[in-house]
Amino acid sequence: MKRPTQVPSPLAGEGRIPTCPLSRRTLLAAPLALTACAPRANSQPAPGPVAPLKSLAPFPIGTCVQAGFLDDPAYTALLTEHFSQITAEWEMKMEYIVLPDGTFRFDRPDAMAAFARARGIRLFGHALVWYAQTPDAFVRLDERRASFGQAYDRYITAVVGRYRGQAVGWDVVNEAVRDDGSALRDHLWSQRLGEIDHMVRAFHVAHAADPDVPLFINDYNLESNPAKLDQYQRLIERLLRAGAPLTAIGCQTHCNADLASGALTRTINALARFGLQVHVSEMDVSLVRAGGWFVSREEKAAAQARLYAEAVTAFAALPAAQQFAFTIWGVRDPESWLVRENRSDAPLLFDGEGQPKAAFRAVEAALRA
Ligand code: XIL
Repeated sequence: MKRPTQVPSPLAGEGRIPTCPLSRRTLLAAPLALTACAPRANSQPAPGPVAPLKSLAPFPIGTCVQAGFLDDPAYTALLTEHFSQITAEWEMKMEYIVLPDGTFRFDRPDAMAAFARARGIRLFGHALVWYAQTPDAFVRLDERRASFGQAYDRYITAVVGRYRGQAVGWDVVNEAVRDDGSALRDHLWSQRLGEIDHMVRAFHVAHAADPDVPLFINDYNLESNPAKLDQYQRLIERLLRAGAPLTAIGCQTHCNADLASGALTRTINALARFGLQVHVSEMDVSLVRAGGWFVSREEKAAAQARLYAEAVTAFAALPAAQQFAFTIWGVRDPESWLVRENRSDAPLLFDGEGQPKAAFRAVEAALRA
């Protein structure tokens, strides 16, 4: 990996603070470590020729990538064969872009953007404002000074502006709703700039930086927690009423193999009722997080395949104008964030050898139907 390109930012000059040692994230992201730890494939490769998913779907089929993965020719060949859109898994978030001294680095985001451009793959931007990431450079700004809001605006302007004309959409606000669905999350951005106002502001600033790009709100557990889905829908209404240029809705769809049949369809349809574009933005189906009622791992894998098929079928039934993209959160199992957390999980469509699993065949069949 080349040395990061550091671009002076409005946050610079607040006083240097020491560079952090290697973070857990950096370690987790190391592709060599992943390959070395990759679990054996646990699903039998399905027989028969493999159709490129992107050729079967009338809408873009996305996946997430890390810049380090792009050095692996087997990975890039599989990605390019099946997927027509990429989302940066974490290297277009503040966590990567904003350095402790407030400067910005774009080396890895640029590498992913260049990869996408060279192959005619769409680039999706993820994610501008996230409760989980509050870089020190922002935390250190005095809340009574206008500089916090200005730095927030300039960050969004710099990132969206850099990929203007290439990014086909941006997750502007990510995971704003509390896990229990009871309220919105409380965090640095809401405390300094207001619970709703920080979101409205982010949408306006992103819109000014790229007036043509669809701007998303995005969240998870919408299919498994009705209270969270309700709160998410209320938030979308509030943002629209407040005049935020929110033009599209993300449904992450990180689910577990024991999710009840019908939940994904109901959720996708509920979100589509706004009439905006919908992105199934991060789908994966965990086997190990599923409850204990399965008698075997094969049964879990079959349930996983059914859930993928249900989501694809529900998405394909939306009006074409609302089908933004269907994104799966990774290509091969060993690279999944869930497998980094638990090596016996297998949440994606391809195993470690790049062979299609039952879940792939289910998606393929759902797309053909
Ligand atoms: C995850 C990535 O997969 C991990 O690599 C990273 O360590 C943490 O974030 N919802 C999101 C994504 O919006 O950004 C998260 O991605 C998964 C949950």
